[in-house]
Amino acid sequence: MINVNKLRSEFPILSREVNGKQLVYLDNGASSQKPKVVIDAISNAYSNEYSNVHRGLHYLSNLATDNYENVRSIVQKFLRAEHEEEIVFTSGTTEGINLAAYAWAMGHLKNDDEIILSIMEHHANIVPWHFLRERFGVKIKWVDCDASGNLDPQAIIDQFSDKTKLVAITHMSNVLGTVVDVKTICHEARKRGIVSLVDGSQAAVHMSVNVKDIGCDFYAITGHKLCGPSGSGAIYIKQEIQKTMRPFIGGGDMIKDVFTDKVIYNDPPMKFEAGTPGIVQTIGFGVALEYMMSIGMDNIETYESELTLYARQKLEGLNWLNIQGKPSKKGAIFAFTLEGSAHAHDISTILDKQGIAVRAGQHCAGPLMHHMGINASCRASFAFYNTKQEVDKLLSGLELARDLLS
Ligand code: ALA
Repeated sequence: MINVNKLRSEFPILSREVNGKQLVYLDNGASSQKPKVVIDAISNAYSNEYSNVHRGLHYLSNLATDNYENVRSIVQKFLRAEHEEEIVFTSGTTEGINLAAYAWAMGHLKNDDEIILSIMEHHANIVPWHFLRERFGVKIKWVDCDASGNLDPQAIIDQFSDKTKLVAITHMSNVLGTVVDVKTICHEARKRGIVSLVDGSQAAVHMSVNVKDIGCDFYAITGHKLCGPSGSGAIYIKQEIQKTMRPFIGGGDMIKDVFTDKVIYNDPPMKFEAGTPGIVQTIGFGVALEYMMSIGMDNIETYESELTLYARQKLEGLNWLNIQGKPSKKGAIFAFTLEGSAHAHDISTILDKQGIAVRAGQHCAGPLMHHMGINASCRASFAFYNTKQEVDKLLSGLELARDLLS
């Protein structure tokens, strides 16, 4: 059970005012707020325990290395990966998916090979695959969602052919909130020798994830949406796949030795991590994941399901509000426009004046927006520290926006 008032008191920013009103932070899909335990861990790392990692033999370097490397097993636990070495640190989901594109896909895909994507992917899970289309003539096959925003796993599986090499799918749409049955997709892909990548950027924040159960080859997450610092993240890469991958970025740390005529690469996961990493960001990321696991991802999912149901009951029936996507399995993400011609930016400005923070625009999901015939929408995205009272405040803010803009 979640004690939301206690949790809220652990996030300093949630008690501040914005525009003279109590902050209602509903932009968690873009980035979550940080609990004090994470802020303190960052401060402590810089104040008392900072040095570069993997490079020195002195006390502080060893301490920083231990603190940093310890996060790998925390991420392993969070994602329930089989081996700690399957966790590669990144600066976030975007870097993780680019890593998969450069270090795996560019070495395995050629002209006319196919990548399957859903129409609801975030640009981070689209643009790296366009690179392969542009450079190698790889084909991207798109699978639409239905009018309610459901994505039928069978519609994806029906697109698999002898030429399909990769299926790359979001676990939760960052616009519609649709929760995708990635397990069915990844299991069917594996039966056919197709590699699977799951963009877990949104889903991992709202539910417990088990990469072994899902059966994916890659699963990317980002720290800043998981109550951790920006510039932190990780990608799970199944060990068998790692063995077939080239390095990603070249430089220090990812090598065992360098000669004038050859390089001997480090073993995974270091093989995929070059240069001085986001040391303190990663340490803060580990503290954030431990914090979330101490609340319990199942508790978070249960609490947010109730919050989502409450918000759906309040918002979905309104004839002046167009909610994009009413899928049967939906996370706490609501994209919407007002009936009529009010622009999303104007709606979000009116909400902001009420202290309510939402995102407005295309949400880094161009193909989905084009598919839905929408230029821009507002998006309210909730976290485990949001409340039903905040749903009510959103509704009041929207009523004001409707009155002012109609
Ligand atoms: N990916 C983030 C979002 O959906 C930035 O807002």
